[in-house]
Amino acid sequence: MDTPFSTLIRVASHEQHTEAETSPFMSDLLGGRLGVEAYARYTEQLWFVYRALEGAAGALEDDPVAGPFIRPELMRTAALERDLAHLRGPDWRAGATPLPATEAYAARVEECARTWPAGYIAHHYTRYLGDLSGGQIIRDRAEKTWGFARKGDGVRFYVFEQIDNPAAFKRGYRELLDAVNADELEKKRIVEECKRAFDFNGAVFRELGEEFPLSA
Ligand code: HEM
Repeated sequence: MDTPFSTLIRVASHEQHTEAETSPFMSDLLGGRLGVEAYARYTEQLWFVYRALEGAAGALEDDPVAGPFIRPELMRTAALERDLAHLRGPDWRAGATPLPATEAYAARVEECARTWPAGYIAHHYTRYLGDLSGGQIIRDRAEKTWGFARKGDGVRFYVFEQIDNPAAFKRGYRELLDAVNADELEKKRIVEECKRAFDFNGAVFRELGEEFPLSA
């Protein structure tokens, strides 16, 4: 139809986006009611997810469908590793464990990357466009709550050093979505996978919420 694909995917995930924003774990984290350990555990979960997303990026670079989305300026794994070294110390890897929901999420990202590049786009969109948007709100709150240096260690994940103008970048990204090399049925499947991606994020938040219940 005439609705641009970038609009379709945004509208289709709108309700789940609100759920994610208002999930107890996110609300508590952004409300400054959780300790830095909860933030560190969340950051650690992101590391497993981005390792899956970015571990696959090289193999997808020349893919006719997913290839145009693979952009070096988006890569977050190195920033997450710096944040984790700051949050947990140099041996952070030894203690890093994925929650069951994180493991399932990363496994699905890897599966899409291997077998269905269009599905990988759904995961790519859900994470990176979110990080470029709401991620900036999370960074601001994290800096204020736990005293990280502005855009420094601890919040580097949220800082896209190589993207000077996030709004312009997002516009370009939406143009890529609108031009995606997929027919109508495949686009529907991508939208469904995007909803699944939001579900995975919701499940990670739920498990984090169970691990860090508010004492009050
Ligand atoms: C408290 C947490 C969150 C806040 C405050 C937040 C806030 C926002 C805001 C303000 C936008 C709009 C940006 C714009 O119009 O350009 C946005 C967009 C977006 N967010 Fe979030 N968000 C949060 C959590 C999440 C989560 C957990 C995900 C998924 C993993 C996510 C995925 C997205 C996506 C994909 C977009 C882009 C929508 C589009 O324009 O197509 N967000 N977020």
